[in-house]
Amino acid sequence: MSAPLDASSLEALVATSVEEIEATTQLRELEELGSRLRGKEAPLILARRSLGQLDDAEERKAAGARVGAALEQVAAAIDRRRVELEALERVARLEADRLDLTEIVPGEVHVPVSRGQTHLVTQTRRALEEVFVAMGFEVAEGPEVETDWYNFEALNIPPGHPARDMYDTMYVDLGLPETVLLRTHTSPTQIHLLEAAVAHDALPVHAVMPGRCYRLDTPDARHLPVFHQIEGLVVDKGITFGDLAGVIETFTSAYFGPEIHSRLRPAYFPFTEPSAEFEITCTICRGEGCRTCSRTGWIELGGCGMVDPAVFDAVGIDPTVYAGFAFGFGIDRCAQMRHGIADMRALIENDLRFARQL
Ligand code: PHE
Repeated sequence: MSAPLDASSLEALVATSVEEIEATTQLRELEELGSRLRGKEAPLILARRSLGQLDDAEERKAAGARVGAALEQVAAAIDRRRVELEALERVARLEADRLDLTEIVPGEVHVPVSRGQTHLVTQTRRALEEVFVAMGFEVAEGPEVETDWYNFEALNIPPGHPARDMYDTMYVDLGLPETVLLRTHTSPTQIHLLEAAVAHDALPVHAVMPGRCYRLDTPDARHLPVFHQIEGLVVDKGITFGDLAGVIETFTSAYFGPEIHSRLRPAYFPFTEPSAEFEITCTICRGEGCRTCSRTGWIELGGCGMVDPAVFDAVGIDPTVYAGFAFGFGIDRCAQMRHGIADMRALIENDLRFARQL
């Protein structure tokens, strides 16, 4: 069979080849077609091979040029289509990877998501901060991981002091020369604050310092090994115990209500002198006497006292010029008293029936 070498046959061959090329929809299909159109049996290849049968040299040259041009047109069509198909496949891949969140949760299918709320301890901390800010206090925070010096020594609790017994905690091995521990109270923040005030010549100080504390306590109805305190500190000229008592009473009725009062009873803390325990009217029985308050009508909330001169010494404040008072009490205990929570462990058990009531 003699292959078509005339211009119109070649043109027709190119046209059908280009049509086939453009009809391909996948790269693999295109490459198969390409091999077929340029393979041993392809009409254009057969045509090229048959050139030798032409006797006339001029005619052979002209036919050769036509076949060459036809093959080039086919090759160009394949290259064009390859670029197009590559682009299409890239888009298809992106499309397949696309994650349309509005399709996953369409607006019409309403999946009810229940909203959470702040934890009762957070609510209580904020409410306490508000009361003290209204009384002119600033709010400050200190680290939960402390050195022995901040947690004990600067607070007049030297190594071996018996007061350390009530502040047992977890120790942290950071490979430092100092002893590092989880703070057992917020009082070390007093030291940070006073150091900063001295360094920046920024006395007086009127601040409350809320935060998380740790002790090796077994959880029970009134204790958690991880708990929260709010510390108060006023250092100024001419501060007296009367100022302390007034602040405690003002806070108590502002936070718990006008019928709840405070009283101070002598106590001991190494970093205050004199020291007191502060108690409030039992919120369960309103002072009548009940099981919760051991029939006394009073509940202990925290400790307080006048800043001990040894603390002023530790931070370099002259105790003949400045005086101050400090107090510290449990935020969790406040939440318990204000909401009548019989067992403090409810605060960390994550029982939704409990949490939803608050
Ligand atoms: N830091 C003491 C405690 O946790 C409480 C306290 C604070 C006492 C400030 C006096 C002054 O036991």
